[in-house]
Amino acid sequence: MSRARAAIILAAGQGTRMKSELPKVLHEVGGRAMLDWAIAAAASTGAARTIVVTGAHSPAVGEHVARLFGPGASAIQDPPLGTAHAVRAAEPAMQNFEGDVAILYGDAPFVPPERIEQMFALRTEKGGLVVLGFEARDPTGYGRLLLAADGTVERIVEHKDATGEERAVRMCNSGVLCADARTLFELLAQVKNENAKGEYYLTDVVALARAGGVPTYVVIGVESDTLGVNSKVELAAAEAAFQQRMRIAAMEAGVTLIDPGSVFFSYDTQIAPDVVIEPNVFFGKGVKIAKGARIKAFCHIEGAEIGEGANVGPSARLRPGTKLGPKVKIGNFVEIKNASFGEKAQASHLAYIGDADIGARANLGCGAITCNYDGFDKYRTTIGEDAFIGSDTALVAPVTVGKGAYTGTGSVITKDVPDGALAVARARQHNIEGWADKNRAKKRKDKAT
Ligand code: UD1
Ligand code: CA
Repeated sequence: MSRARAAIILAAGQGTRMKSELPKVLHEVGGRAMLDWAIAAAASTGAARTIVVTGAHSPAVGEHVARLFGPGASAIQDPPLGTAHAVRAAEPAMQNFEGDVAILYGDAPFVPPERIEQMFALRTEKGGLVVLGFEARDPTGYGRLLLAADGTVERIVEHKDATGEERAVRMCNSGVLCADARTLFELLAQVKNENAKGEYYLTDVVALARAGGVPTYVVIGVESDTLGVNSKVELAAAEAAFQQRMRIAAMEAGVTLIDPGSVFFSYDTQIAPDVVIEPNVFFGKGVKIAKGARIKAFCHIEGAEIGEGANVGPSARLRPGTKLGPKVKIGNFVEIKNASFGEKAQASHLAYIGDADIGARANLGCGAITCNYDGFDKYRTTIGEDAFIGSDTALVAPVTVGKGAYTGTGSVITKDVPDGALAVARARQHNIEGWADKNRAKKRKDKAT
């Protein structure tokens, strides 16, 4: 039986380099807050308890955590005096916990759960303390792992405290650490702040562990996984790295991307094989696309389910709550929100369909719109199977158009239309013979005088 696991996520830093009112760890990568990436990684390694250490300066982080886990899942570090001090802030919340704990950072979104799993496994096998290291292309700013001849870690020296020789070392500390919880808190109590920054460094526990006869191991990951975000420039770099991974994963799973670099995904985008995505498409959160669908160029899609063989775009906007059945066709300049389309239903051009249920094979003509909002409340529109909504029809909800019914072009439909009926709701046309010729002659005469 493996030991119980917990995670402590450090998120109390000021994040001043982000130059933002939004706390750093709530900035999103791939549509998910960086903190939530760390929380998800902790959860997928089976952490029974996750404590997020937050700062008094950013209550939004504590509120975010409370929304996810309820109260008690965060600990406040006030003031922030360094990473060791931050972990100690979680000690009261970990009082009755027996087992292993992983320390994660709220600003390092890509540490793969497999890597954390590997660290826990190494601990189970050998005991002691395990850190996650990586070889940095440019190690400036990182703590350096100083390794013994047998590959174990002797100590970690922070960049600011390192000698020239130590700075030449490229093996760096990711910050992720895994230890027996009780041992870790005992070691943390011995950490001092006698260093260049005057902070309590979590990294000092390595040398303290060794001095106390606790072995210290390293698992080596890759730099792109341990990437930390401290500024908007680094946030963009993290986003680019995430998008690149998603594009490759999609193509490897059988999705065709005509121009991969112009397609943007969210962390939860699900696309089946044999879907073709044309250039310049953005997927927000909550998108699921069934096989054989085609997303044409310039679409913005979020919170939408797209059925097998459906065609969307070019230039369509699907908003949250959109459900398209198989072989639905949505054409250019169509916006859909909170609406379902039955099999083979279509809206081929210039339409707004919100809060509606469209029956199978129904056809919405060019310029059809649902008037779903009166400034206070939203109302639904129901269109029966095989109905034909004439071009430029305004459907004033709540309203129902029956199965197989028609609406005349340009109608403003305010009353329900029975099955099989034609509803026409517009002024009748009336022609005045010769009016234009007479009018023109009069105008010309007036100008001449
Ligand atoms: C830290 C490590 C360094 C490692 C680097 C990896 C220490 C002393 N150094 O340095 O070895 O190479 O990360 O990116 O641990 N935080 C708190 N409270 C504090 C200070 C920080 O919660 O008092 C949080 C921050 O919000 C952040 C994380 O801890 O999520 C790391 O802090 P940061 O100041 O960014 O550490 P680095 O200097 O990058
Ligand atoms: Ca950092």
